[in-house]
Amino acid sequence: MPFQFSTTPNAATAPPKVMTQPNPTQPSPSESFAVSMRNAASQAPAEPISSAIKMSAQDVDLFYGAKQALKKVSADFTERSITALIGPSGCGKSTFLRCLNRMNDLIEGCKISGAVTLDGENLYARGVDVVQLRQRVGMVFQKPNPFPMTIWDNIAYGPRLRGIKNKGTLGEIVEESLQGAALWDEVKDDLKKSALGLSGGQQQRLCIARALATKPEVLLMDEPCSALDPISTLKVEELMRELRAAYTIVIVTHNMQQAARVSDKTGFFLLGELVEMGASSKMFTDPSDKRTEDYITGRFG
Ligand SMILES: Nc1ncnc2c1ncn2[C@@H]1O[C@H](COP(=O)(O)OP(=O)(O)OP(=O)(O)O)[C@@H](O)[C@H]1O
Ligand SMILES: [Mg+2]
Repeated sequence: MPFQFSTTPNAATAPPKVMTQPNPTQPSPSESFAVSMRNAASQAPAEPISSAIKMSAQDVDLFYGAKQALKKVSADFTERSITALIGPSGCGKSTFLRCLNRMNDLIEGCKISGAVTLDGENLYARGVDVVQLRQRVGMVFQKPNPFPMTIWDNIAYGPRLRGIKNKGTLGEIVEESLQGAALWDEVKDDLKKSALGLSGGQQQRLCIARALATKPEVLLMDEPCSALDPISTLKVEELMRELRAAYTIVIVTHNMQQAARVSDKTGFFLLGELVEMGASSKMFTDPSDKRTEDYITGRFG
């Protein structure tokens, strides 16, 4: 569906509460903003496909040395849904995302307590195979990071690590993953060319395809569109909507319209705390917490 973003109220949506005092003559900037957020939220997915909890964080505290970056964060992620994490710079969004596949293990001096579960099993329990965990919980970073090798080898990398050697099987995975990331048609004749020759938007979709190739159950995306132009952003958003049918997706974004457009749920972080998390349609039109309202209306952050 082509992306439309207008300030005209959408007749199809019931008028939710406006967050600012109405002005009879001309809408104030924050009213226009509220209207545009409602329009963006009206494009969000309808009902979650499932209500089962795929991942859950309970009372997660995280310290970098003496500095506490997460404070008692608890959140549930529903299977086959998109959750957006928003909040000002430095509030702990990436830190929290990394807790969901133990990427923080790689950071020296980082200590975490509390629990994070995947299908009810604690990721931080003794004996958990972290390599296998990161195959089940894939990650796409802000900056596309293709390996300096061919497009084909980039995608086949993870499956090869898992021991798949058969060229035919690998070829099928490469095609399937590139199709899944909406990149196949653009690169199918260039699979043996270096991935570094792709555009930024194509590189980001390549990284998504590489994550899909290990057949993850959860996909974590840290500002995946921040370096992309609007058309590539739109492609990645469309892709997320399609992937939602099979994956549990958690995305960090600074783009609140994007969060409103693509996500089922949104969580607002501030100073290491998850202030509020709920249905995106409500978060962007009628948040429960004053701090959320102040942030989404641009009063701070
Ligand atoms: N590797 C690290 N070592 C020490 N401190 C860190 C490290 N990574 C993050 N921090 C600190 O933890 C806090 C949260 O950082 P984090 O990167 O999670 O924020 P963020 O919400 O993702 O911000 P942004 O929107 O700018 O990406 C910040 O104060 C940051 O300085
Ligand atoms: Mg970050």
